[in-house]
Amino acid sequence: MSMLAVLRGPQQVLFGAGQRAALGRVTAALGSHALVVTDARFGSTPEFADLVRLLEQAGVRVTAFTEVLPDVPVHQVGECAELASRVSPDVVVGMGGGSCIDLAKAVAVVLTHGGQPSDYYGEMRVPGPVLPVVALPTTAGTGSEVTPVAVLTDPERTSKVGISSPFLIPHTALCDPELTLGCPPGLTASAGADALSHAIEAFTAVRRPVSPELATERVFVGKSEIADTFALLGIRLIAGSLFRAWSDPTDMEAREAMMLGATAGGFALGTAGTAAAHAIQYPVGAITHTPHGIGVGCLLPYVMEFNRPSRIPELATVALAMGASPDSSPEDLADEAIQRVADLLAAVEVPRTLADLGLPADRLRWTAEQALLAERLVTNNPRPLDVDALEQIVRAAHSGDRGALRDAAPVLAGASAATTADGR
Ligand SMILES: NC(=O)c1ccc[n+]([C@@H]2O[C@H](COP(=O)([O-])OP(=O)(O)OC[C@H]3O[C@@H](n4cnc5c(N)ncnc54)[C@H](O)[C@@H]3O)[C@@H](O)[C@H]2O)c1
Ligand SMILES: [Fe+2]
Repeated sequence: MSMLAVLRGPQQVLFGAGQRAALGRVTAALGSHALVVTDARFGSTPEFADLVRLLEQAGVRVTAFTEVLPDVPVHQVGECAELASRVSPDVVVGMGGGSCIDLAKAVAVVLTHGGQPSDYYGEMRVPGPVLPVVALPTTAGTGSEVTPVAVLTDPERTSKVGISSPFLIPHTALCDPELTLGCPPGLTASAGADALSHAIEAFTAVRRPVSPELATERVFVGKSEIADTFALLGIRLIAGSLFRAWSDPTDMEAREAMMLGATAGGFALGTAGTAAAHAIQYPVGAITHTPHGIGVGCLLPYVMEFNRPSRIPELATVALAMGASPDSSPEDLADEAIQRVADLLAAVEVPRTLADLGLPADRLRWTAEQALLAERLVTNNPRPLDVDALEQIVRAAHSGDRGALRDAAPVLAGASAATTADGR
């Protein structure tokens, strides 16, 4: 096996309680007129007023768009760009959950290069650098503050769409865990499940043969050494703090660990990419209107079970990062990793089955067919996937029968190709 390592990220990540106070200085170094992008909730808080004051005290003019909707309907990119085009901002500040940061990133693309968001859907379609983005997350989940992707909802498509390019990585991530103290338990769970899924899907992703084209033609290159380090950091931190942050929202130590874990997960996903759990969540979310993190969290143990035959050593390492004793065999540790993930997500009340999420039983084949269309995610999965294999995962996740995947594993489509697809 040849080693592969790719590192992309913001020019700076400033992490820690109270770091938001650096916003004025950080932004003034990048521009003199900031487009601030947030949602109605954060826009009405005293913290938001304080941040705007900090910008103004640093000599930065502020134009604010405070209407971001969850999951960012694509028409909001045009609305926000229209507001901004009247004032010509030279820096964009995204404050809020992943939705606010994603809109900030998408608007920076359109303000710089013109056109419609759809001109940039897919990978590597942004032609050059965009207005600098400063990102302040208020959830510990998406990692968008460090990732090269903006996720949007386009009514013309069934699934969500992404603009993926290294040019979308924010210039500065200002990660202040105090901003997550207001997250209610349900949001803490969905964001935390998303972050855990990023770290685990990145750590178990396909391993691609090293080539000079790999990282210049692809945003998401599969498993890589540096991404692994971030993934394991994320898994360790989230495993130790998600339940605490969920059960006691004021537990600052847990909030800090969750936010650092989510940012680490963002670094991992930003180069390695995610896989089957994310591919299947898109159609599930489109039908059930359940949050992204809840969907990927519900699916994660089933996808780990499906991938187990190809990823025993990696899953064993996941178990160790989650606190398992090293005395067991790799096979037993791999099982323990899946069980620990399932137990943690159940403890924070992530629904255990797709039926619980409201996916109708007559839409299981359709869900698999739609998931297959997310080709970038499907081909990033360590075990090859076709529509039948995806349907088996969907069926098991719908009925809650993880054992069905275990029993069926040797005869699943593509099982024999699993060791060649990842270059090993
Ligand atoms: N760009 C990326 O790399 C990336 C990665 C994964 C997911 N995503 C996308 O990010 C979006 C999800 O982002 P999210 O999970 O952060 O949620 P979100 O931004 O959609 O926000 C969900 C709700 O939580 C509220 N909220 C946010 N912070 C809060 C706080 N501190 N206290 C109380 N309420 C708060 C928001 O106002 C909103 O009502 C989805 O569209 C998903 O597809 C993006
Ligand atoms: Fe995600």
